[in-house]
Amino acid sequence: MEAVTNPPFRKICKHYGADVLISEFISSDALLREVEASKKKMMFDDKVERPIGIQIFGNNEQSLIAATEIAAAAQPDFIDINWGCPVRKVAGKGCGSGILNDIPKMISLTKSVVSHCPLPVSVKTRLGYDESNKPVVYIAEALQDVGIEAISIHGRTRAAMYKGQADWTLIGEVKANARMQIPVFGNGDIDTAEKVVEYKNRYGVDGILIGRAAMGNPFIFLHAQQALRGEAPTPVSVQERIEVCKQHLEGLRQWRTERVALLEMRKFYSGYFYAMNNFKPFRIRLVTAESYEEVYEILEDVRQNFTGYQFDLKQQDL
Ligand SMILES: Cc1cc2nc3c(=O)[nH]c(=O)nc-3n(C[C@H](O)[C@H](O)[C@H](O)COP(=O)(O)O)c2cc1C
Repeated sequence: MEAVTNPPFRKICKHYGADVLISEFISSDALLREVEASKKKMMFDDKVERPIGIQIFGNNEQSLIAATEIAAAAQPDFIDINWGCPVRKVAGKGCGSGILNDIPKMISLTKSVVSHCPLPVSVKTRLGYDESNKPVVYIAEALQDVGIEAISIHGRTRAAMYKGQADWTLIGEVKANARMQIPVFGNGDIDTAEKVVEYKNRYGVDGILIGRAAMGNPFIFLHAQQALRGEAPTPVSVQERIEVCKQHLEGLRQWRTERVALLEMRKFYSGYFYAMNNFKPFRIRLVTAESYEEVYEILEDVRQNFTGYQFDLKQQDL
């Protein structure tokens, strides 16, 4: 996820039980132009972050092939093609889910990537372009036929952006298709460990991608793994949340510039301290803090005010 799944946060997710990690999406055109920020997005810690996929997006065959070769040289475990992003500056150029109104091109570009990639290739996509056009069952088969080795499906269309509820029924149909041999992963609106188990059982998918609900809440992976094993969730203490939040902040501080890290961290605080009554004043202070010293002082106040807080485990995941 853009500006979310960089190495500092991925390592935390891995620690708490995420099975597979994926980079932020990377523009194939930018990789070709050797844009430093894009090259940096390919980096990962070889010792900790495996299995990992590098995700690329684009619409031009030559750029996609070149980017595939560049990304494969960084030696991830697989290359993931983003045919799912609905944001206008991406999809408007025929990248991401913008390709979903030209399925033949989606298939031929994917085929080119597969044939130039020494590593397994996977695809992340959506149900289709809009409500009247949701050919994901066909798309999944056609992409399997050109050689992808896994598919992840977000249960919305391009037109839906992030509106409404994700519809998992078509994801279930892709999985139930007797011709499908490759792993099918479902995605969209999974925000509790219970839902992981419920959706996995109901739709039979081989795995689940958790996006927004993991932002500041990497503990959802721990609880999901426990729920999948039929175990009760282990509460995560306020002290642990503070420590992990600090680890994330410090990791980001080294990964980004000081100022950018301070700002980027703001979107994670409510996740780290979710479901704590009377937290709002602290959250407001955290998201308006202008220095690291200030953030540390607030976190110390959080520790003093909330140590021993009893979480309602039903509420614990977002
Ligand atoms: C801030 C943000 C950045 C995202 N960046 C990416 C990305 O780079 N690549 C990708 O495949 N999906 C990206 N997504 C989409 C998520 O991976 C996921 O498909 C979507 O949020 C639905 O899943 P969720 O309900 O679990 O969040 C992004 C979503 C958000 C909110």
